[in-house]
Amino acid sequence: MKNPTPGSPKSGITQVSHTHLAHPRGLATPYCGAEIVPAASSKARIRSGGWNPESVLDAIHRAPIALSAAELEARRDTFLSAAQTEFDAEFLCRYLEASGTAWTPEFLAFEHAWRRDEYLHYIAFRRLFARLYPDAGEEALAAIVESATPDFSPIATFLADEFHVLTAIAFDEACTAKSYAEDVPFYERLGAPVFPEWIRAVARDEVHHCINAIAVLRACHAHRLGEVPALIDSFHVHDASQHGYRNTFLFDHWAYAPEFLQRVAQRLKVQIGAPH
Ligand SMILES: [Fe+2]
Ligand SMILES: [Fe+2]
Repeated sequence: MKNPTPGSPKSGITQVSHTHLAHPRGLATPYCGAEIVPAASSKARIRSGGWNPESVLDAIHRAPIALSAAELEARRDTFLSAAQTEFDAEFLCRYLEASGTAWTPEFLAFEHAWRRDEYLHYIAFRRLFARLYPDAGEEALAAIVESATPDFSPIATFLADEFHVLTAIAFDEACTAKSYAEDVPFYERLGAPVFPEWIRAVARDEVHHCINAIAVLRACHAHRLGEVPALIDSFHVHDASQHGYRNTFLFDHWAYAPEFLQRVAQRLKVQIGAPH
């Protein structure tokens, strides 16, 4: 995986405390997972946070756009599906909450940080979409994205318990982190420093999600780590062979190059198995 480098705080991306995960001021919409209160102590270290949503949203709103209309139009579906997939973390959270699965305190700490990040990614992608495509109102986009109907039935066995869920999220986040990091050159061409700085920060968040999932696997499911390679192989095969995406947040990489998924799967197996 290419390591995304942290963005420097020079164009509206100001740093916030990694331990401060209060609901973002001015973004009052409740989201699944926001109500979780992490336990005071945890066997797994959870990394989170790093950019200020208010300053980023404002900077995106005001940023000049340098790309031609034709170039932007060619990327419209990519931005739309990014906003959709980030929002779909909401559907996954609701599915997990309704599943009746018993969650460890470490998982809930992971989920609390993960949900806040994904919610902020969605809000920022929504703002970016409205900035790049003024014909598409932000509220109209939200109405489309948030009314999608997820279908978890094809991946229910992949979400059978906390161990499976963490391994699935680790795989998915590793794919997403690599994808966003590879997109930095495109964001540099958009025309304002906030764009590449922000997508680097998002890629870093996705790396944190993967690392955090691995930390909980090691802290709470060490006795099952031998199952990880075969499980990742099954995720990889499913992700590469399915035709379409069902708003499940997970396994939306069917259009990726086979080598991309292969590299992520191999690296993740080594990463989870590596001594720490
Ligand atoms: Fe995300
Ligand atoms: Fe993520």
